Amino acid sequence: MHRPRRNRQSPAIRAMIRETTLAPADFILPMFLHEDPQDTPIDSMPGVTRWSLASLVREAGEAHALGIPAVVLFPKIEEALKTPQAGEACNDHGLVPRAIRALKAAHPSLCVITDVALDPYNSDGHDGIVQRDARGGLTILNDETVEVLCQQAVCHARAGADIVAPSDMMDGRVAAIREALDAEDFTAVAILSYTAKYASAFYGPFRGALDSAPKDGDKQTYQMDPANSREAVRETLLDEAEGADMLLVKPAGLYLDIISRVRETTTLPVAAYQVSGEYLMLKSAAAGGWLDERAIVLESLVAIKRAGASMILTYFAKQAALWLGGGTDRTS
Ligand code: PBG
Repeated sequence: MHRPRRNRQSPAIRAMIRETTLAPADFILPMFLHEDPQDTPIDSMPGVTRWSLASLVREAGEAHALGIPAVVLFPKIEEALKTPQAGEACNDHGLVPRAIRALKAAHPSLCVITDVALDPYNSDGHDGIVQRDARGGLTILNDETVEVLCQQAVCHARAGADIVAPSDMMDGRVAAIREALDAEDFTAVAILSYTAKYASAFYGPFRGALDSAPKDGDKQTYQMDPANSREAVRETLLDEAEGADMLLVKPAGLYLDIISRVRETTTLPVAAYQVSGEYLMLKSAAAGGWLDERAIVLESLVAIKRAGASMILTYFAKQAALWLGGGTDRTS
């Protein structure tokens, strides 16, 4: 008789044969920031805060001390600075460039990743520049947007960003950003491309955190249809050919098949983003006392890693890093 249970009989054996392990080095912490000197708890994401510049630097330092190698920045831009062309996205003295400089000065070994997309800066709340026709219909302009994204990426590189992460899903942006960075001698700045970013309802709490929801229309003409998987392979091949250094799948937990497929398609490192709605679901189930927070969070993260992601963007990064310091017999 075959007895697979022999390999599960003790913590020691389970530890030896474990195929996937989690470590703080797997996590990237997404951080929200604003111009305000006060920190603001985010209603739509219990336990997550929008930081002032000073608090951002302190918090990022704490995360880094726990072994988290990188943060990714998401700014809330004041309404008065938003325009249809999103010019503030390329302002060298804007909030994000100042945050990058402050972070790199305080924590030189922390990897600083920035979001390259126009939605926080654009009065229309879209990732690209919007054109309206006489009947009120809107088009998200691809090539015009890519030009601004290139300037935004170079602006972040100038401030000291280690990695730029285009999350906009415009066509051709990876090649264009690579060329723009190289032309300014930023050959060492890497591109983490959101390769398969789906038009997901699970981004709702994030848009609440930044007031960045589209004013009208939705993102289905640029973000991918949740029903599609082969299309992710196409995007993977294109981003790789265009010169991306790392690829990202988003959301993560409901898209494990996509993570696995992208993993098998490319030799590049694969990242996955456990998004705000995933965070909120786990957090609310735990807050209700219905599920064990530590167990479900670590299980959700190990599943994302098992599917093929070597980097996980998660709002649980700090908490999970603390738990993993505990070293008990778990799925991780
Ligand atoms: C937009 C962007 C979004 C997220 C990250 N970058 C929202 C969107 O595409 O509408 C969502 C992240 C999350 O939900 O945690 N460039």
